[in-house]
Amino acid sequence: MYNEIALDQININADPPTEEPARQHYFMAKCRKWTVAFAEKNGRLPQACVVNFGCQMNARDSEKLSGILECAGFMLTENENADFVIFNTCTVRDNANQKVYGRLGELNGYKRRNPHMKIALCGCMTQEAAVVQKLRKSYPFVDLVFGTHNLFKFAELLWTTLSAEKGMVIDIWEDTDQIVEDLPVERKYPFKSGINIMFGCNNFCSYCIVPYVRGRERSRKPEDILEEIRRLVADGVVEVMLLGQNVNSYGKNLARPVSFAWLLKEVEKIEGLQRIRFMTSHPKDLSKELIQVMKTSKKICRHLHLPLQSGSTRILEQMNRRYTKEQYLELAMHIRREIPDIAITTDIIVGFPGETAADLEETIDVVRQVKFDNAFTFIYSKRTGTPAAAMENQVPPAQVKEGFDRLLKVVQDTAREQVARSAGKILEVLVEEVNESDPSLVTGRLSNNTVVHLPGDASLIGKLVNVSLEECHGFYYLGRICKDLQ
Ligand code: SAH
Ligand code: SF4
Ligand code: F3S
Repeated sequence: MYNEIALDQININADPPTEEPARQHYFMAKCRKWTVAFAEKNGRLPQACVVNFGCQMNARDSEKLSGILECAGFMLTENENADFVIFNTCTVRDNANQKVYGRLGELNGYKRRNPHMKIALCGCMTQEAAVVQKLRKSYPFVDLVFGTHNLFKFAELLWTTLSAEKGMVIDIWEDTDQIVEDLPVERKYPFKSGINIMFGCNNFCSYCIVPYVRGRERSRKPEDILEEIRRLVADGVVEVMLLGQNVNSYGKNLARPVSFAWLLKEVEKIEGLQRIRFMTSHPKDLSKELIQVMKTSKKICRHLHLPLQSGSTRILEQMNRRYTKEQYLELAMHIRREIPDIAITTDIIVGFPGETAADLEETIDVVRQVKFDNAFTFIYSKRTGTPAAAMENQVPPAQVKEGFDRLLKVVQDTAREQVARSAGKILEVLVEEVNESDPSLVTGRLSNNTVVHLPGDASLIGKLVNVSLEECHGFYYLGRICKDLQ
């Protein structure tokens, strides 16, 4: 998309435009002048490295950062010893933060050897005041800090940083209702792409920091989303993943409200698009209409990520999830009845304040009944500022660990059983990459998201092929390309 922006025609000696995205295009043009001067002086292009620490939404943001950097004339690299390095951070659990601090230390080592290096930090972590304070005090070598709400301003901030002699440039917004369209994006995969359909979250689950660092729910206009997908398809994309913290409430706050199910039907009509995924669904907002749309769709993948968090109604209430164990079970079973070949995956937190062994048994009971095809299990992490952090009955770590291991065992057993359901079938696989450990194989995914390895080469990447699922190896298959679909 970025090559459509005629940067050469922008007069960078004039005052910057006030409207967006023209203003950012102007700063991209200014940065490009800087990168050209760098190349003339050093005999090489300046290198930039974007590192992603978070969820799919974070990854999509990283593609936007990469697009802007590339447009500004940087050469992208995966090597962190680069001229410009940006960490796109996550703060959902404390270990995500610790990883960033550790890696910043390593960057400082590179910077000592290359003092011209610029280091930037953005993403969810930087929306926390305590983090910014810590950066100022203990990480003064960081050159640029900005947040989630002003990511669209990256070109402008990049220019400020490149032209500044020294000192930390900090620009954090509390919130925003702005959605800036038409900025460059550099996709990681040519054949698949994430698409933001909404930003922020209004749910305030009591353990979760996301609403504080991502702000209130804002939906993109359907015509912008559909236009972006059409453009991606014209550019070779066959699979899209519609992204939002709670896609089921998509469209409710638009001037002309629409439902997520309606959006899916519109996306389905786009010719050339083969697969549609989406993430994440909150159980309280999942409509019967959506289940029917999924059931009759030819393109929506047979996979639903439906975070449970806990199977204990008492804990769910404390978590402010707004459904009971029984409601979750009823919903999951209804989906299984309506779409028997669907894979249901989930997220579960162990060790929420006040959780007892009996509560955990309730969770394990739900896992056994629903038979999740996969479950991400997390140890509860106390996030400052959330209601749960102030709860008194925090669970001792040894008890959490014991419960976590017990749950994990059940989760793995049911997942293995579920994955084995496809054994012997012939199903469609979208080939994604050459296998990392065995280059005679390629790796792809079934519609239900199960990983399949099969003999093949790079020419298959991005193609949908029919594969006979010969050997089930726990969580993945070894298969073989086959001509007829069962
Ligand atoms: N919006 C999504 C989830 C976003 S965060 C949803 O509501 O389902 C991804 C997962 O991280 C959550 O589903 C939850 O299981 C986990 N998580 C969030 N906050 C956490 C915390 N404080 N400690 C441990 N896990 C947490
Ligand atoms: Fe966090 Fe709950 Fe919002 Fe998901 S729905 S992002 S868990 S507050
Ligand atoms: Fe992490 Fe932010 Fe995503 S906190 S999980 S990167 S929304």
